[in-house]
Amino acid sequence: MPDSGRSKTGRTNEHTTYEPMMTDNSEPDIGGWGLVQHVSLMCACSRLQHHLGLRGAVVEVGTYMGSTLIPLVACKLPDELALAIDPFDDAESEGTVYEKGVRGRLEANLARKCPGRTHVDIWSASSDDISAPQLSARLDERRVRLFHVDGSRAARSVRHGLHLAESTLAPDGCVFLDDFLNEGWPSVSEGAFAHLLNGSRLVPFALVKSKLGLSFAPMRDALFHASRQAVAEMELVQRKEVSLLGHTISMGR
Ligand SMILES: C[S@@+](CC[C@H](N)C(=O)[O-])C[C@H]1O[C@@H](n2cnc3c(N)ncnc32)[C@H](O)[C@@H]1O
Repeated sequence: MPDSGRSKTGRTNEHTTYEPMMTDNSEPDIGGWGLVQHVSLMCACSRLQHHLGLRGAVVEVGTYMGSTLIPLVACKLPDELALAIDPFDDAESEGTVYEKGVRGRLEANLARKCPGRTHVDIWSASSDDISAPQLSARLDERRVRLFHVDGSRAARSVRHGLHLAESTLAPDGCVFLDDFLNEGWPSVSEGAFAHLLNGSRLVPFALVKSKLGLSFAPMRDALFHASRQAVAEMELVQRKEVSLLGHTISMGR
């Protein structure tokens, strides 16, 4: 998410691309905040999961116009479910009020970028109002292999989003949290630490341009290595291994 002052719909130099779309520069932007580094990181983890035979749902809290969801839909298997959760027109987060008509833009972007898409469910709701059992029911009890938390920046919303993610995650799944340690949104880190330091079994494996990667301990090392390889190929100012919450993680910025 941008610091204040950056357009909510405007183009950025780092808008999302994903391998199947990278060759097609004629497509207009989707609109949103997906960065190519974030998409590369998530897709590398998704590829590893598929390589290991893991199947499951992909969930995004805070979808906006789909600049991250669409690459995630592109890298899911046809029969895997993608669930997008966003209140759309009624959304307000830490002083940011989102414009109207976003769901329509998302639907149009999905139709344009993922024609013939199947198994994509759009849930117009605030994640704050969704309990873990309600989310599981909406997923038809599928476990989640990739969960992106990118909705409200309020600390309690971030904490609840991570709770929803951890409650529905497959054993080999992974969670991504946006704006972790971004000084523009300190409440995101506040909510994340509140969750991670209070009984969570999630541990970190990567932090790329403020996108934090988390998983359960048994899958951590494999995701760390996949992330490190992906980070090595990214356009970044700096990359290194750093320590977070007792774990070595792959950092890129
Ligand atoms: C930064 S944007 C998401 C960007 C998007 N993931 C992307 O990659 O382009 C934040 C989104 O979170 C949504 N949002 C705000 N509060 C929310 C909540 N409580 N639950 C779910 N989504 C929320 C907003 O409507 C907005 O679309």
